[in-house]
Amino acid sequence: MAANKSILILPGDGIGPEVMGQVRRVIDWFDNRREVTFNVTEDLVGGAAYDAHGTPLSDNTLAAAMAADAVLFGSVGGPKYDDAPRNLRPEMGLLRLRKELDLFANLRPALTFDALLDASSLKPEVIKGLDLMIVRESTSGVYFGEPRGIETLPDGHRRGVDTQVYTDTEISRVAEVAFDLARVRRGKVTSAEKANVMETGVLWRDVVTKLHAAKHTDIKLEHMYADNCAMQLVRAPTQFDVILADNLFGDILSDCAAMLTGSLGMLPSATLGAPDESGRRRALYEPVHGSAPDIAGKGLANPLACLLSFAMLLRYSFDLHEDAALIEEAVRNVLKSGVRTTDIMGPGAARVSTNVMGDAILRELDKQAA
Ligand code: IPM
Ligand code: MG
Repeated sequence: MAANKSILILPGDGIGPEVMGQVRRVIDWFDNRREVTFNVTEDLVGGAAYDAHGTPLSDNTLAAAMAADAVLFGSVGGPKYDDAPRNLRPEMGLLRLRKELDLFANLRPALTFDALLDASSLKPEVIKGLDLMIVRESTSGVYFGEPRGIETLPDGHRRGVDTQVYTDTEISRVAEVAFDLARVRRGKVTSAEKANVMETGVLWRDVVTKLHAAKHTDIKLEHMYADNCAMQLVRAPTQFDVILADNLFGDILSDCAAMLTGSLGMLPSATLGAPDESGRRRALYEPVHGSAPDIAGKGLANPLACLLSFAMLLRYSFDLHEDAALIEEAVRNVLKSGVRTTDIMGPGAARVSTNVMGDAILRELDKQAA
């Protein structure tokens, strides 16, 4: 039996705890099977942590995240916290984790499941076979740049400032991840920026071009303005393999890519740090969807994105590829059988609750393991 691997679970707010509850059942399933066991601890983040400790991420929780082999994150935020001071908003818990753990490479796959082709707002023929990966920089850019703030001018009007800033090393380390991923995928990187209007865009393009020429000429590199990339994503998304983008463009493009697949509720993500001497990377896994406060607590949430995030955790942090594949196969089969949460409902399918979707996954895992 493989040695214990430590996972810190941070369910967060909104639908986070509900979807994580189903993942816990799958983790228990693996534990009972006794081929690999996990040492799981759970803690608060986001609004839940703010309510309990007055901060969206306590120092203790941060220390636990630093010590864990991997962090599995649900979602944060909700209208209840709209008036909280900006530095204490639930989202800051997530941003601080990314920053303090130096998790700079946010991997967001978007792939279509054949059984869900009809759930997309695009025509099935446009999205069939879609399998792309967005690599989003996640510790810099306009999310963290200084100066920032809202000031009152002498004439009484107010002025808001954000700063978009990137260093060459911040660009090259995330570009490196994109090239390495493309090498084990279909060998193509599309780098998205706005070099036509932004200085950071000019630097981004230059750094990526030079890195490519120096080390990655086996990969096909293409540059695309970020707005055009958004347009191409809905026009002909299967042209893409790996899309590389900065923090803000990556945030936007990944929501767009997510929706191509028919549901945000299906998409997992991983955010990785740099490998240490032993090759181990700090890593956080989370569904791409948010806390969806409008449906929280109603049993309507789709747990599959969170479950697939756990599968990514098994793959990228623990090298448990067969176990990850077991989960991915279970998801495919359950979808094929016509079991659907509301967000991915289609004609003739059976609408089920969060919990019943969890039941279906466990039944399928039992079947595969038998
Ligand atoms: C995401 C989210 C976050 C972001 C929010 C919750 C801060 O939209 O992970 O894409 O903007 O990065
Ligand atoms: Mg986002």
